[in-house]
Amino acid sequence: MGRRLLLCLLLVVSVKCRTIYVEDARPTEEEVSFMKRYGYLPEVAEGSTSLDFSYTPLSITEAVRRLQAFAGLTPSGVIDSDTKQLFKKKRCGVKDIITTSSRSRRYVTREAWTKKDITYRVLNGSRTLEKHRVEGQMAAALAVWAPHAGLTFTRLDSGKADIEVSFVTLDHGDGSPFDGPGQVVAHAFCPPLGDLHFDDDEVWSEYPADDEENEESTDFFAAAVHEIGHALGLAHSDVRESVMYPYYRARVQSLYEDDILGMRALYMKDQQAATSALTVQTENPMAPRFSLDPGVTDEEDVPDLCYTNFDTIQVLQGKIYVFEEEWMWVLSERKEIDPGYPKRFHDVFIGLPEHVDVVRTIYEKRNGNIVIFKDKQYWEFGPNFSLIKRGRLRDYRLPGRLRELTTVFLSNYNNKTYLIDSERFWRFNEDTWTMDKGYPKSMSAWRDLPYPVDSAIIWKGNTYFFRGPRFWRFDNAQIRAHPYYPLFTAQIWFPCQPTPDMERYTKNED
Ligand SMILES: *[C@@H]1O[C@H](CO)[C@@H](O)[C@H](O)[C@H]1NC(C)=O
Ligand SMILES: *[C@@H]1O[C@H](CO)[C@@H](O)[C@H](O)[C@H]1NC(C)=O
Ligand SMILES: *[C@@H]1O[C@H](CO)[C@@H](O)[C@H](O)[C@H]1NC(C)=O
Ligand SMILES: [Zn+2]
Ligand SMILES: [Zn+2]
Repeated sequence: MGRRLLLCLLLVVSVKCRTIYVEDARPTEEEVSFMKRYGYLPEVAEGSTSLDFSYTPLSITEAVRRLQAFAGLTPSGVIDSDTKQLFKKKRCGVKDIITTSSRSRRYVTREAWTKKDITYRVLNGSRTLEKHRVEGQMAAALAVWAPHAGLTFTRLDSGKADIEVSFVTLDHGDGSPFDGPGQVVAHAFCPPLGDLHFDDDEVWSEYPADDEENEESTDFFAAAVHEIGHALGLAHSDVRESVMYPYYRARVQSLYEDDILGMRALYMKDQQAATSALTVQTENPMAPRFSLDPGVTDEEDVPDLCYTNFDTIQVLQGKIYVFEEEWMWVLSERKEIDPGYPKRFHDVFIGLPEHVDVVRTIYEKRNGNIVIFKDKQYWEFGPNFSLIKRGRLRDYRLPGRLRELTTVFLSNYNNKTYLIDSERFWRFNEDTWTMDKGYPKSMSAWRDLPYPVDSAIIWKGNTYFFRGPRFWRFDNAQIRAHPYYPLFTAQIWFPCQPTPDMERYTKNED
């Protein structure tokens, strides 16, 4: 009983599906059960015998969109051939979307080990990989994580270990049976259980196959690095480069930034050492103004972004724009300031009236124009930054009473414009120039985000929110902030070396 309660997995109640719903291109029974198993469709209440009325075409479409978004596909809601392939891919058996509904306490979301010295034991090898080889691979896979969590791993040959590794097939007594060759290849349990199960119906190999789609063999090391992530408390990531991406990939070379941040969030929260674990680009010759010495003040009194909150950040024309006081910086990549910045934004946005002395709300329209808002007014610039027109908030079909917007961004998820004041947001369709029905809504709909927010941006397909010195990555699939966040903006986005000063500064905020 206790073991079942603590599974990371959703223990799927198998219900025999009959007709799901009648529509063109409806998902098959297997596809529906896939979306339920991994958390994209709500579970049907236990004991319910009929599924006929459980899912509407809309709920299926939404589930397909969430599935596609999590996997990094275009969230069309239509089961196209790429989506079909997802259902067949080798993957981890742990749920992607962990429901935290209070009704269901059958899984814990994220837990960490409460000790630093973790033991592990390999109970047996697979049909194709001898036990001592598995032990060697496990040691290598654990070593990938160890420095980022400040943990030590010790192998036991007998007795109960914290992390036990075994090869099992089909129903193996934990309520989450394996499925024979292909598809689910492994699963793991969160702390304080930590066990790793590998499906012995796969052909496990010590070497990655040349071809990712190679159905013949599955690389044990790649799968082990991923499953250890769960055993240390991480959930699945929707970032394809992350080792916690749920679909199997043969070549795992190193952890992605998110994986490292996840470990730090779980194990090194309050430690100075935490900052050194993340690879931080140190010197950037292009950025002499990002002085890391707070004692040095620039002649022109340009603020130091490492120590100052900025007014807003936005992505325009594929680059990151940061505004603070009368200055703006442009970054081509995180931590890479373009030469020549900072500049005064009045020297760039020609035609912006002098009384606009800060830029707090700016975004790029669907048509490529750039809009700066202040109070009830806005100024719209062409892609070459020359003023095209001025207008008023009510042009956006906003209520006349509204005094100002704090943030505006264009979602890449649905191509809608989100207009945010301090506690509410509106969703606007620029193609039809109409406000969507049902708005404004409360900012509390963006779960696990603080509000008011200072800025919201889309960067490389992900949605980020910024407030004070911190930022959050928003998970469009789960409609909540990703649990690794918030993190300190200056350390991740600007070329700032984490320093005790910065830590102190950021801790005092908010
Ligand atoms: C490996 O060990 C597990 C747990 O003791 C057991 O259930 C399983 O049958 C073993 N597998 C093999 C291939 O011996
Ligand atoms: C900027 O683009 C507009 C058209 O969008 C054009 O009329 C204007 O001359 C351009 N200005 C400059 C300075 O290139
Ligand atoms: C959003 O717009 C882009 C470009 O206009 C288009 O390629 C994409 O399919 C649209 N996405 C959605 C979800 O409508
Ligand atoms: Zn997994
Ligand atoms: Zn199992």
